[in-house]
Amino acid sequence: MAFFLLALLVLFSPYYGQGQLPESVSPEGQAPSISSKGEKKPPPRRAYAGDAECGSCHQEKAKTYFGTAHHIASYLPGEHPIAGSFAPGSNILKTANPFLHFEMSATKEGYFQTAVEELGPSDKISRTERIAIVAGAARKGQSYLFWKGDELFQLPVAYWTDLASWGNSPGFRDGSPRFDRAIVPRCLECHGSYFEWMPPPVNHYNKSSIVLGIWCEKCHGPGREHVARNRSKTPPRSGTTEEAIVNPGSLSRDRQMDVCGLCHSGAATPIQASLSFMPGDVLDDYIVNLQYATSDTPVDVHASQVQLLEKSRCFKSSTTLTCTTCHDVHTQQRDAAAFSPHCLNCHQAKDCGRYAKMGDQIVHNCIDCHMPRQQTQAIFSFEGGKKFQPLVRNHRIAIYPDGTSQ
Ligand code: HEC
Ligand code: HEC
Ligand code: HEC
Ligand code: HEC
Ligand code: HEC
Ligand code: HEC
Ligand code: HEC
Repeated sequence: MAFFLLALLVLFSPYYGQGQLPESVSPEGQAPSISSKGEKKPPPRRAYAGDAECGSCHQEKAKTYFGTAHHIASYLPGEHPIAGSFAPGSNILKTANPFLHFEMSATKEGYFQTAVEELGPSDKISRTERIAIVAGAARKGQSYLFWKGDELFQLPVAYWTDLASWGNSPGFRDGSPRFDRAIVPRCLECHGSYFEWMPPPVNHYNKSSIVLGIWCEKCHGPGREHVARNRSKTPPRSGTTEEAIVNPGSLSRDRQMDVCGLCHSGAATPIQASLSFMPGDVLDDYIVNLQYATSDTPVDVHASQVQLLEKSRCFKSSTTLTCTTCHDVHTQQRDAAAFSPHCLNCHQAKDCGRYAKMGDQIVHNCIDCHMPRQQTQAIFSFEGGKKFQPLVRNHRIAIYPDGTSQ
C-alpha cells in the first residue's frame, strides 16, 4: 500500500516525464527534478560563500579536500586534465557499426568529439560538438557534456578507466551517433554544486549560474552568514548554533546518513525542487526511492552505498556506525588496507572465522573479504561486442563466498 501511494505521488507529479532520459537504460540521472508540491525553494546563490572563502580560514581542510573525487566530480576542460587521449592514433573510437567512428580532437579552441559516418567511398557526414563540461573524477570513468544553446546534453563517447580507453557512454547503444541525451537537474545536483534552471525543456539552464564540483557547502549548508560572523570583530563561540553552519558530525545518525544519501542512495525521484535539500533535513521529504521501495530488491553497488551499509548487520546491530566511521571526506582515502582499523574498533581479528587458519595475516585485509569490489549492473558499456561493467566497492559488510574478493 505504501509503495502504491509513493508511486502515485511520483506519477502525478506534474513534471514526472520531464526528468526521464530519452532512453533511460542507466539509472544515473533518471529522476525528474521538480517537485509535485514545490513547497521548498532552494536558497539563493548569495547565501553561499564558495570554496575559496571556506578555504581562506579552514586551510588544512581545503588543501586535502581539493584532492578528492568530490571536488572534481565535474569541472571545465582545462581546469584539470581530461582522462582520455587526444593524441593521433589513440583518439579514435571504432564502433560495432563499420560505417561509424568517433574522433576526439584538441585544438586551440578547445576539446571536441566528432561522429563520422561513411555513406560511400568518398561520401561522409560528420557532427562535431565541443566538450563543455567533464563529469567524473575518472576513478571508473568520465562522461562529457555539451551545450546546444542553453540546453545541456551528454556526448556519445565516454572514458573508461579500467579499459584505459575511450568507449561508448553508459546507456548508449554501441554504434549510434546520438546527441540527444538530456542532462537533467538531478545529474548536476549529484555531480555539481549550484545551477539555475529555466523554463522547460528540463535540460535548460542559466549557463553562467553553474558551479561545478562539489563544494564544502553541499554538506555544510549555505555559509555566507558563517563567514560574515567569523569575519566580524566578535566571533561566535565555537560549537554553538551561533556558528550559522552545519557540522554533520553533530547531527543524529539518520540525518548524517541523509547528508550523504542525497547522492549515495541510488536513482531516486525528487518530490521537491533540486538544491532545496539542506544538511539536517529529512531526506525522505525530498526524494522518493521507488527503486528500493521493497526490501528484497537487489541493491546495485553503484552510488547506493547508503542502502547497502544499512543492510549490514554492523549497521543494524550498532547505533553509531555511519559513513564517517570510515571516511574522512576532506581527504583522499584510496588504500583499502587502511580501513581495517575501523573494523577493529568494534571487532577483534579473533572474531573472524578465518583467524584460526590465517592468523594475523587477515588483520589488514578485512575489507577485501567483507566489502569486496563487485560489478555494477547500473552502468555499463559495450566495447567490441562485449559488455563492460566497472567494479565498485560493495558497502554491505557481510560474509561473502570466497572468490568474490578482488
Ligand atoms: C573568517 C574565517 C572563516 C571562514 C571564511 C569560514 N569559517 Fe568555518 N569556522 C571558523 C571558525 C573560527 C570556526 C570555529 C572554530 C573551529 O571549529 O575551527 C569555524 C567553524 C566551522 C565549522 C564547525 C562548526 C561546528 O559547529 O562545529 C564548520 C563545519 C565550518 N566552520 C565550515 C565552514 C565552511 C563550509 C565555510 C565556507 C562557507 C567556512 N567555514 C568559512 C572560521 C571561518
Ligand atoms: C552532492 C552529492 C554528494 C554528496 C552530498 C556526497 N557525495 Fe560522495 N560522491 C558524490 C559523487 C558524484 C562522487 C563521485 C565523484 C567522482 O568520482 O567523479 C562521490 C564520491 C565519494 C567518495 C569517493 C571519494 C574519492 O575521493 O575517491 C566517497 C568516499 C564519498 N563520496 C563519500 C561520501 C560521504 C561519506 C558523504 C556524506 C558525508 C558524501 N559522499 C556526500 C556525490 C556526493
Ligand atoms: C544520485 C546521485 C547521482 C546522479 C543522479 C548521477 N550520479 Fe554519477 N555518480 C554518483 C556517485 C555517488 C558516483 C561514484 C560512486 C559510485 O560509483 O558508487 C558517480 C560516478 C559517476 C562517474 C564515474 C566517476 C569516476 O570517478 O569514475 C561518472 C562519469 C558519472 N557518475 C557521470 C554521471 C552523469 C553524466 C550523470 C547524469 C546523467 C550522473 N552521473 C548522475 C552519483 C550520481
Ligand atoms: C561530502 C560532504 C562534505 C564536504 C564536501 C565537506 N565536508 Fe566538512 N564535514 C563533513 C562531515 C560529515 C563532517 C563531520 C565529521 C568529520 O569531522 O569528518 C565535517 C566536518 C567539518 C568541520 C568541523 C570538524 C573539524 O574537523 O574541524 C569543518 C571545519 C569542515 N568540515 C570544513 C569543511 C570545508 C572547509 C570543506 C571544503 C573545503 C568541507 N568541510 C567539505 C562533510 C563534508
Ligand atoms: C560501529 C561498530 C562496527 C564497525 C565499525 C564494524 N562492525 Fe561488523 N558488526 C558490528 C556488530 C554490532 C555486528 C553484529 C554482531 C552480532 O550480532 O553478534 C557486526 C557484524 C559483523 C559481521 C557478521 C555479518 C553477518 O552478516 O553475519 C561481519 C562479517 C562483520 N561485522 C565484519 C566487519 C568488518 C569487516 C568491518 C570493517 C569493514 C566491520 N564489521 C565494522 C559492529 C561493527
Ligand atoms: C566500514 C567502513 C566503511 C563505511 C562505514 C563506509 N565506507 Fe565507503 N568505502 C570503504 C572502503 C574500504 C572503500 C574503498 C576505498 C576506495 O577505493 O576509495 C570505500 C569506498 C567508497 C566509495 C568509492 C567506491 C568505489 O568503488 O569507487 C564511495 C563512493 C563510498 N565509499 C561512499 C560511502 C558512503 C556514502 C558511506 C555511507 C553510506 C560509506 N562509504 C561508508 C569503507 C567504508
Ligand atoms: C580471507 C578472507 C577474510 C578476511 C581477510 C577476513 N575475514 Fe572475517 N570472515 C571471513 C569468512 C569467510 C567468514 C565466515 C566464517 C567462516 O566461514 O570462516 C568470516 C567471518 C567474520 C565475522 C563473523 C563471525 C561470526 O561468527 O559471526 C566477523 C565479525 C569477521 N569475519 C570480521 C573480520 C575482521 C574484523 C577482519 C579483519 C581483521 C576479517 N574478518 C578478515 C573471511 C575473511
